[in-house]
Formats: sequence, structure tokens, C-alpha cells
Amino acid sequence: MKVRGKHIRSIWLEPDGWSVGAIDQRRLPHDFVAARLTTCDAAADAIRSMLVRGAPLIGATAAYGVALAMRADGSDAALVSACKTLIATRPTAINLAWALDEMRSVLRPLPPSKRAEAAYARAARIAEQDIAINKGIGQHGLALIEAIAAMKKPNERVNVLTHCNAGWLATVDWGTATAPIYLAHDQGLAVHVWVDETRPRNQGASLTAWELGHHGVPHTVIPDNTGGHLMQHAMVDLVIVGTDRVSANGDVCNKIGTYLKALAAHDNGVPFYVALPSPTIDFSIDDGVRQIPIEQRAAEEVTTMTGRTADGRMETVRILPDGSPVANYGFDVTPARLVTGLITERGVLEADRAALLAAFPERVTAAAE
Ligand code: MRU
Repeated sequence: MKVRGKHIRSIWLEPDGWSVGAIDQRRLPHDFVAARLTTCDAAADAIRSMLVRGAPLIGATAAYGVALAMRADGSDAALVSACKTLIATRPTAINLAWALDEMRSVLRPLPPSKRAEAAYARAARIAEQDIAINKGIGQHGLALIEAIAAMKKPNERVNVLTHCNAGWLATVDWGTATAPIYLAHDQGLAVHVWVDETRPRNQGASLTAWELGHHGVPHTVIPDNTGGHLMQHAMVDLVIVGTDRVSANGDVCNKIGTYLKALAAHDNGVPFYVALPSPTIDFSIDDGVRQIPIEQRAAEEVTTMTGRTADGRMETVRILPDGSPVANYGFDVTPARLVTGLITERGVLEADRAALLAAFPERVTAAAE
């Protein structure tokens, strides 16, 4: 998408042809700076420290991390070690395991001397595939927004609520939840986005608001607790969120707080859609609520807030009483029964096993192998 009129992706191969560039998302919205990753360990650190984040981008970064490892050493031992380092970075988003499986299946049969080139090619394909998938999600999601717009009075806007950042920063480009929004906006539909700030890391306030603002999409940032009130007063037409993992039965894992939005949507008859790229489906598990591992993160994310002061300095301040214990679960799982539909690159599906199986039969065969 565009930043200051220039098209940019969240991750790219540098002009030297081997090192990897990525937007440092820890610095947004205040500073727009890129990082250059030159080793597999640097790629792993980037994922762990959330320099890059968002399920699809974590997958793409891991793929490039394997390529960087293979450039240094194409041996079997180096491949095993790279995958071990990368898989340990973050536990919840399944795209990480998916990307590493893809890389391993391409690289294992090759002699070590051929692996670096093949790894860069596969990583680039994973990135391109992500963009194509998101465009597909965009087209199918656009039809939902158009249908709501058709029922509105002239000059009324379609109000979408989203949680966390499932925008282009969380993917290689376009985003998942935002792809239909960008397409609708670009086609001249009056669309407005309620952006949950998404404590504790504020991916909504810092990243989604930044993205939408740069693309000119009307939006309003709201504290996380506001969505229920807006829904009660008919101020939300639909919810679209992203996801880090969807189990075979259609349960949806996403950033902590998503489940509460789904409950509020259900209570108020507001459609609750999940934008789901197929690499985010985990066909190996059948009960997302019980089986998806939920990342627990550092207490400092809750005990402190970081921001820019009026005189331009970045500062971190403590907001809790000293000594108060903290729990910091990164994700929650919304049961399939609360999900109106899964917006995939192959259409809008029911959140259930039969629909996922019918739409992605090749993923099921691969999972069984
Ligand atoms: O902890 P994060 O910022 O990596 O969490 C991101 C989310 O939960 C996103 O909503 C999800 O990855 C979908 S991204 C298209």
C-alpha cells in the first residue's frame, strides 16, 4: 500500500539481492524506519521482538530467515537449526509453522549447494502468494460491504469495526481484514472504520490507524471497551477481524479481546466476519478453544505505556501500582458459533469443518501426510 504516495510492502529483498528489509513496526506511528536483516538469528529476533508481527508477515519473515540461513550454510544441520530457532519465536500464529514446512519440503530433497537459491525463490513465492490471497479476500469481502452499502440511505456510510492490526503491515501487502475496506474505499464507497486501540501493545491505535490514515480511509480510534456500546446503538454494520489460527472446526484465534467483540456482535445481531488466508487454517486440530497455544507475554506490556512527549522524546511510563501482579495473554479464541462467516481467498465460508474441507481439500491431504 502507499506511504506518502510511494508504494511499499512490509518486507522486501534489498537491492543487494540477499539481505531482507522490513518496516520496524515497533517504531510506528511516530517513526517510519526500516531494518535490514542479514542473518537467520536477526530474522528470529525481528519476530520475537515484534519488529515484524501479524500472522502472515511472521510466516514470510520466517521463510526469508531460512533463506538467510541457507546462504550462510546449506547443510542439513543448518536447515534443522534454522527451523528450530524460528519456530521457537512465537507460538500462536500457525503461519510460522506453515511457512517453515513449505521451506523444508522444498529444501530437503536438494543438495546443500542448491538450497540458498531455492530458499530465496520459495520465500519470494510465499510473499507473492500472500499478496494474491489477500486480494482474493478483498474481492469476496468487498461484496459483503457492497451489499450493506446498497441497503443504506444516500450519504450514509458503512461502519466496520476491527480489532488489532490485520492490515497490510500484518501481511506482505493489502492486509486481510483491511483488504475489503481498501477496495471499498478505492471504489468510492463511503466506508468508515472503528479501530479498537488493542491494549496492551496498541496495534490498532499505532498501526491500523496509521495505515488507514496514510491511505485516506476515514476511521476513528476507540478504547477497547467501546465496541459493545456502539453496537447497541446501531453504529456498527459489521465486524471484520484477522486471525492467527483457525482450527478445522472453525474456531478463530486472534488478538486478545476479539472474543468479547464477537459476543457483543452476537448479542446485537451485528455480522462478525473473520478474514482468513488459507495458510492460517490448522487442519491438525479440531477444538481451537482447548488446543490452540496462547502466547503469554511480558508484564511490562501491561505495566507501562510508551509514547512521544510534546517535545518529541519517546518515553515509557509506569501506569500500575508497584507490585501489582499482571496477566498478559496475547490471544483468545472465538468459538465458531459466534462467527458469521470466514472471508477466504476462495469465498465466504461457514465457520465449520465441512466448509473448510470443501474449500481447501489440498490442505487436508497435506496435513495428513
Ligand atoms: O501479536 P500480533 O500483533 O502479531 O497479533 C496480530 C493479530 O492478532 C492479527 O489480528 C492477526 O495476526 C491477523 S493478521 C492478518
